[in-house]
Amino acid sequence: MSDWNSQVEAAKKELAAEFKNLDDKTRILKSDHLKKLYALLPKVPAEQKRELGLAINDLKKEVESWLKDDNEKKVEDLRPIDLTAPFDINAKEPSLLPAQNGSIHPISQEIEKVSEIFNSIGFEIFESRNLDDAWHMFTSLNFPEDHPARDDYDTFVTEEELVAPAHTSTMQSRILSLRKSDLEEGRPIAGVVPDRVYRNEDVDARHEHTFHQLEGVYVDKDVNVGNLIATLKTFLSAYYGKEVETRINPFYFPFTEPSFEFALSCPFCDKKGCHICSQSGWIELLGCGMIHPNVLEMAGIDSKKYSGFAFGCGIERLIMMKYGVEDVRLFHSAKLKFLKQF
Ligand code: PHE
Repeated sequence: MSDWNSQVEAAKKELAAEFKNLDDKTRILKSDHLKKLYALLPKVPAEQKRELGLAINDLKKEVESWLKDDNEKKVEDLRPIDLTAPFDINAKEPSLLPAQNGSIHPISQEIEKVSEIFNSIGFEIFESRNLDDAWHMFTSLNFPEDHPARDDYDTFVTEEELVAPAHTSTMQSRILSLRKSDLEEGRPIAGVVPDRVYRNEDVDARHEHTFHQLEGVYVDKDVNVGNLIATLKTFLSAYYGKEVETRINPFYFPFTEPSFEFALSCPFCDKKGCHICSQSGWIELLGCGMIHPNVLEMAGIDSKKYSGFAFGCGIERLIMMKYGVEDVRLFHSAKLKFLKQF
């Protein structure tokens, strides 16, 4: 037997072993063992070339038959498909898995938590509305007619001159009127409104046209700024589960006097300054102040006898600070990867 004969035999054994171990069986056709045999061809004496060529070809055909057998076996291995089955229990692809039950949206989950905290310190929960009139949205809140402060809110207005509330303060006067009898009975008015608001503004990582606010209203005898700050700090520590660092700055709202802006130390950079807090180390969280006497009077409450505070907080921002969410648009993006984290 010629030398190449034993080489072909040896290559066949090597190929069989290699084939067994291959994940992608088709790669066997590119095996070095085959290449080496082809490389023999130019080296053998001319009269043996044909014989060697045929032997290599036979071997190649045999290898191809291994491939064919393997494919047939794979087809046999496939389980029969039940077309009436609603889904494939063993599917590895998520799209073939059974549909999962829906879950509560993170904003709703957080609103639930926020409401529970305020409930636990005696606040009643109210709902806002999706359409309101300019009287509640502006006039009842001491915005003079045609005052430019009305424009600050970039409101959506319908043809009938109704407005999509741009803040939950649109509910202030209603809560005051509805609960003013409590004051005469010696109880404070204490309400919060966690609900949706709308602003006709450009959307970016920190602004949405549709978002949520948490309004708070509290009225009693001798209420002062200290009560406002204590309430907000109590709430924020409960919500964030730790003492939070806050900063209060004077501000202007027509419906509160004095008015403040309340900021929280930036949790993203620990006050060092980053792109999220515009390098300031602080993030404005809410507007607040002592309810303007005109607002109390318009709701039928004697402003000489009673005083109160109000605040309005962006709920998305509250959540973003808690979980380190950098882009407000994610909440309405329907991205399951984001939503499932909550
Ligand atoms: N409504 C105000 C806003 O949306 C916030 C606010 C509420 C300020 C209550 C003071 C009191 O900007």
